[in-house]
Amino acid sequence: MNIQKTHNEWSSRLAFILAATGSAVGLGNIWKFPYITGENGGGAFVLVYLLCVLLIGIPIMIAETMMGRHTRQNPIDALKTLTEESGADHNWHYLGWLGVVAGFLILSYYSVIAGWASAYVLKAFVGSFSGEDAAGIKQIFGDFVASPIQLIFWHSLFMFATMWIVNRGVNNGLEKAVRLLMPSLFVLLILLVGYAMTTGSYNEGLRFLFTPDFSKLTADAVLTAMGHAFFTLSLGMGAIMVYGAYLPNNISIAKTSMLVAGADTVVALLAGIAIFPIVFANNLQASSGPGLIFETLPLAFGNMTGGWLFGILFFVMLVVAALTSSISLIEPAVAWLVENRNITRQQACVWAGGIAWALGLGTVFSFNVWSDVKLFDRTIFQLLDYLTANLMLPIGGFCIAVFTGWIMHQQHSAQELAMPSQGYKVWRVLVKYVAPSAVFLVFLHVVGVL
Ligand code: TRP
Repeated sequence: MNIQKTHNEWSSRLAFILAATGSAVGLGNIWKFPYITGENGGGAFVLVYLLCVLLIGIPIMIAETMMGRHTRQNPIDALKTLTEESGADHNWHYLGWLGVVAGFLILSYYSVIAGWASAYVLKAFVGSFSGEDAAGIKQIFGDFVASPIQLIFWHSLFMFATMWIVNRGVNNGLEKAVRLLMPSLFVLLILLVGYAMTTGSYNEGLRFLFTPDFSKLTADAVLTAMGHAFFTLSLGMGAIMVYGAYLPNNISIAKTSMLVAGADTVVALLAGIAIFPIVFANNLQASSGPGLIFETLPLAFGNMTGGWLFGILFFVMLVVAALTSSISLIEPAVAWLVENRNITRQQACVWAGGIAWALGLGTVFSFNVWSDVKLFDRTIFQLLDYLTANLMLPIGGFCIAVFTGWIMHQQHSAQELAMPSQGYKVWRVLVKYVAPSAVFLVFLHVVGVL
C-alpha cells in the first residue's frame, strides 16, 4: 500500500459509509449521550441536540467530506491547498492544526474511558455483576475508578490497540470490523430496550428523554448539546475530512452523510431508551455523570436471563465501537506526519499514540488522586472535554462552514457535491448562514451577551 503521496481509496461506497459510521458511532453515543442528557435534564436537551445534528451537523459533515475529497490530502495540507486555490488568507491553514490538536486531546481521554469499557468485558466475563443490586454495581464502579493502576493498565491496552490498527492503515480490516459490529450492536441495543420495558419505569424513561422542559435548559446545556452534535458525528477536527480524502469520486457525499448521521442518531437514542428506565426503576441518579452507563447496564446484565453472555458481548462491542472511533482521532495527525515528515507510518503511530497516552494520564488521575485538582471549577477530564467538545469542535466546525460557504469557489463545491440543484441550494444556505450563525449565537448566549 502506498500512502506516501497518492492516497488510497475506499473500495466502495459501503466501505466509506462503514468507516464514517464506525468513526461516528462510539462512546459518544453510548456513554456520553446518556450521561450528559441525564446531567442536563432530559427532553429539552435532547431536542436541541437533534436540531443541531440536523441543521449544523449534517451540512458541516457534507462540507468536511467534500473538502477532503476535493484535495485528497490530510486536513492540514488540505486547508493549504484550498486556501491557495481560492486565493484566501493563508492563516486558514491553522484550522488544520486546530483539528490535529483537538484530536490528540480527545483521544487522550477517549482512550481512558474506552479502557473502562475494556475492563468491563473482563468483569462481565468473571460474573461480577450477577445478582448485584444497584448499590453493589455502584460500588464496583467506584472501586474501579479509584485505582489509578487499573485505569492506566486498561488505558494503555486500548491506546496500544489503536496504534496497532492505525499502523495497518485505516482501510485494512476496518471494513470487516464495522460490517460485523454495526448490526450486532444494533441487535444488542434492541435487546436492552426490551429489558428496559420490563423494569416498570419504561414510560418514565421515555418521558424523561422526549418531553422537553425548557426551564431546565441552561445556556451551558445548549452549548453542550451543540458540542455533542459535533462530537458524536466526529466533526470539526478533520477526521471526516481524512476519510473523505479516500472517497471515490462518483459517490454522493450528501446522501452518504445523511445516512451516517441517521445511523449515529438512532444508536444514541436507543442507548438513552435502554438506560433511563433502568435509572428510574432503581432510584439511581440520572445526573450521576460519566459513570452512568457503568452503574446501570451491569444491573440489567446481572438480572436478565442470558445476561452473562449479553454483558460480555455488549462491552466487547462497545470497545470495538470505540476503536473504530479512536483510529479516526489520530489518523489526521498520522497522515500529516507520514506525508510531510518523511517518517514511516509505524513511527508516526508510535509518536501520535505515545503523546495521547501521556496526556491521558491527566484524565486517569482526575478520577482518583487528582479528583480535587480543579481549574475553572473542573477536573482535568472535565476541562479537556469542555475545551474540545464545547469549544474546539464548534469553532472548527464554524470555520469549516464559513470556509466552504464563503471562501471556497462555488463551482468547486458544486462540482464536488454534484447534487440536484435544489439540494445544493439548501446545503449552501445551511453552511453559509444557518450553521455559522447558530454556533455564534450559542457562544454569545454562553458568555451572557444574549
Ligand atoms: N464520534 C465519536 C463518538 O461518538 C468520537 C470521535 C471519533 C470524534 N472521531 C472524532 C469526535 C473526531 C470528534 C472528532 O464516540
